[in-house]
Amino acid sequence: MIELQWSSDLESGIKDIDNQHKELIELINSAHKLTEKNEVKKIEALITKLLDYSRYHFSTEEKYFIEYNYPEAEEHKFEHAKLIEKTISKYEQVKNNQETTRSFFAFLKTWWEHHLKFDDKKYRDYFKKIRAKEI
Ligand SMILES: [Fe+2]
Ligand SMILES: [Fe+2]
Repeated sequence: MIELQWSSDLESGIKDIDNQHKELIELINSAHKLTEKNEVKKIEALITKLLDYSRYHFSTEEKYFIEYNYPEAEEHKFEHAKLIEKTISKYEQVKNNQETTRSFFAFLKTWWEHHLKFDDKKYRDYFKKIRAKEI
């Protein structure tokens, strides 16, 4: 599995968001290393951490949506809520042996990659425009 990578085009110019994205990328990458070793207890702890950190990150972004009056906030918030819901239901499937941890993390990686590159990009572009006007 190819690792997620931070790159400068993911930069939003907002420090706490950028730091959180870096942390999320690290968490997802370490998930892959754990599945390779099949360390069940550590995997469980990591999934809990990922869920908590995702909720925390989403609430940070949503706080900035209000601050910047972001017009696509509702659609974006819906994507966040869907991910949390899906992560929980997929994790249930993992626990019931209906899904492997490998495919669970593959799903998360694909989701985050797409979300960072495309969904979050929309507000990054918008925030940049707003800031340019302010100068
Ligand atoms: Fe994000
Ligand atoms: Fe987001």
